[in-house]
Amino acid sequence: MWHGLPGCVSFTGRMPVPQAPKIMDETTRKELAAWLEFYQELGIEGFFRRDSSTAVTLPGLAAAKSTPPEVVSPKAVPPRPTTPAPSAVTHPPQQAIRPPAPTFNLFEAAPTPRSGPETLEQIREDLGDCQRCKLAPTRKTIVFGEGNPHAELMFVGEGPGADEDEQGLPFVGRAGKLLNRMMETVRLKRADVYICNVVKCRPPGNRTPEKDEVDACSPFLYRQIESVKPRLICCLGAPAVRTVLGIKEGITKIRGRFYDFAGTKALATVHPAYILRNPREEKILREDFEKIRDFLKATP
Ligand code: URA
Repeated sequence: MWHGLPGCVSFTGRMPVPQAPKIMDETTRKELAAWLEFYQELGIEGFFRRDSSTAVTLPGLAAAKSTPPEVVSPKAVPPRPTTPAPSAVTHPPQQAIRPPAPTFNLFEAAPTPRSGPETLEQIREDLGDCQRCKLAPTRKTIVFGEGNPHAELMFVGEGPGADEDEQGLPFVGRAGKLLNRMMETVRLKRADVYICNVVKCRPPGNRTPEKDEVDACSPFLYRQIESVKPRLICCLGAPAVRTVLGIKEGITKIRGRFYDFAGTKALATVHPAYILRNPREEKILREDFEKIRDFLKATP
């Protein structure tokens, strides 16, 4: 559990002895001492000041990077889930990422363990040999994601299938082949985009990922989005739409529209596997890929 004084992030550890800096007057020092005692009674034993250069951009506050051809009005969009920024806001239930051990003075700005946005490598490293949910025991490989770490377009699928689980890469099976073909129809190169999934481990029998699995894994997806900073996210299928946009309506109803994810435009479309099962519907996926192409063309 993270605790916070206004403007502060705290951690448990040894309470450093407050050294009153010269700039602090007696009243402020007493007030601060009272607060510290109060927090100490609550079991919180140390604080550091957040370095302002590492301030977290809260979801929804980030400015939109571009204007989409069509944006659904906020009324039409159900409330979005809280979308955590890197290493803050939400972590998988029992796997909270621990801040570093305190080695600094109460009144110093916290050293920045990782300055600037997280890299995909750092996020992957943090994911480690993940055991955060019940998909871990049955997976063969963690399928983290693949592609250009600075892609303008990011695809988010549902979860790895059998081929992906074997190869450790997203969308390499039949659905992936269709995804590649759709990209080709609008002259997008796979190497230029970034592709990942809501869950990084294959659900047994390719079932839909369950809520607890999505809850454990989605913080890593949000961090991937934050790291890549795409101009457009393409949500492939209902689980991606639900996780990224918080929209629970049927995908065929809401597909083809642009939404907003913490200031980044996101297009909802059907999953390629749906088209494999309903080949006559291919034109709807093609139409949506044309929207992607037009969006990327229209905004530099
Ligand atoms: N389906 C998905 O949702 N993701 C993959 O990586 C492959 C198939």
